Amino acid sequence: MGKKIYHYPFWIRLWHWVNAVLCILLIFSGLSMQYSDPQNYFISFDVAVSMHNVSGILLTLGYIGFLIGNIRTSNGSYYKINWSTIGRDLIKQLRYYMFGMFRKEKTPFPINDKRKLNPLQKVTYDGVMYLLLPLLIITGWALLFPEIILDRLFGVSGLQLNDLVHIITGFLVSIFLVVHIYFSTIGATPSAHFEAMINGYHKMHDEPESH
Ligand code: HEM
Repeated sequence: MGKKIYHYPFWIRLWHWVNAVLCILLIFSGLSMQYSDPQNYFISFDVAVSMHNVSGILLTLGYIGFLIGNIRTSNGSYYKINWSTIGRDLIKQLRYYMFGMFRKEKTPFPINDKRKLNPLQKVTYDGVMYLLLPLLIITGWALLFPEIILDRLFGVSGLQLNDLVHIITGFLVSIFLVVHIYFSTIGATPSAHFEAMINGYHKMHDEPESH
């Protein structure tokens, strides 16, 4: 057991776990509304609507906090992609996940003071945090105030298009969540990354690790 790096300051842990709980509430209430059936409901429609609205508003506030935190602290720098090498870097990381880690090889992008995320994490976290969540939040607010939605866009109903984008991005974030939890178990020990996201410290281990 070696040195520890304080990679997860309190504000990012607070944002992360509040965001995770809200995302789970949004997925359950969203699915419940999508497949609502007055005879046989999972959560009653009214409760699901209120739960979805309140969680969506809180998630938006949290998201603004995340953006401010990433702009004003060094945390944002971990998300910067090196576009000149990203293709090769992604192949190296994927190769590691497919073969290397099973052969106990060393990770191609070890965590250190300057690096917290590997190239695959950078691409997925950037995609989720800077593309999917903004789309989900904007289309969600538009559904809360449908009068602001254009009547027709690209020849189709603006409301339907908005709804479709909201549902597709929600579905993609749900898939991300499942994959994200799986990848979070790939560390020096299966609980290493969860512990880091709870106590803030990434422990440096002597044995090869995945992130
Ligand atoms: C029960 C649900 C969740 C669990 C158990 C979980 C677990 C973790 C763990 C262990 C880490 C630290 C390891 C790493 O950096 O990959 C992490 C980081 C992260 N997670 Fe999650 N997560 C969950 C939900 C989410 C959701 C819903 C989102 C976004 C929509 C998300 C976005 C992130 C981001 C952006 C980071 C990196 C944060 C940073 O250090 O700047 N997570 N997660």
